[in-house]
Amino acid sequence: MPDPARRVLILFAHPAFQRSRINRALVDSVRGLDGVTFHDLYEEYASYRINVRREQALLAEHDAVVWQHPFYWYSCPALLKEWLDLVLEYGWAYGEKGTALHGKRALSAITTGGREAAYAREGYNRFSIRELLAPFEQTASLCGMEWLPPFAVHGAVEMEDKAAIDAHAADYRRVVEALRDGRLDARRTTRVQRRINEDLAALGM
Ligand SMILES: Cc1cc2nc3c(=O)[nH]c(=O)nc-3n(C[C@H](O)[C@H](O)[C@H](O)COP(=O)(O)O)c2cc1C
Repeated sequence: MPDPARRVLILFAHPAFQRSRINRALVDSVRGLDGVTFHDLYEEYASYRINVRREQALLAEHDAVVWQHPFYWYSCPALLKEWLDLVLEYGWAYGEKGTALHGKRALSAITTGGREAAYAREGYNRFSIRELLAPFEQTASLCGMEWLPPFAVHGAVEMEDKAAIDAHAADYRRVVEALRDGRLDARRTTRVQRRINEDLAALGM
């Protein structure tokens, strides 16, 4: 029996969205989906003055959170870090009485300039993408959220083939829809090695 439908909040952070190609395609494929709220942090908070109460209210209204961004210095763009620092308050997101996010699902959706092979012990970047996302995984865990393997598009800088970009966008839409429809949870993803989109058919998508 599938879980009931969930509301998905996509927190998007790209400081140069006007020059984006890959995130642009991913965004175009999920923006406007029923049950999915697209929230562009750089558009909302160009001044970096984040409205913490508003962000917390948005989180409370959703069952799953997607942090979507290009990978910048093995992490997220600065405004998303600011968002994490300010919005995930003690006593609200974690700590005594900090249960607002308990049971919600958390997913990182990232694009990297580096190729997939670069994200390995013997590769150029020495660490796997899952290892490098550990701060996000542990942040979700501390807040009582259920962390999923990341959605990742590698080799984003040199990706020119429109069909390949479109395929990634379609995969992203499948993942977001599955999250929304309660078809995606940690139990189903235990066999995922690197990223949730390595074999969507195996996950029933
Ligand atoms: C400031 C900065 C830092 C970056 N850091 C990384 C990085 O740590 N690892 C990586 O693979 N790519 C890195 N990149 C490349 C971006 O991830 C890449 O340009 C982006 O994913 C492309 O997506 P877009 O077409 O949506 O802009 C960086 C790019 C910039 C501008």
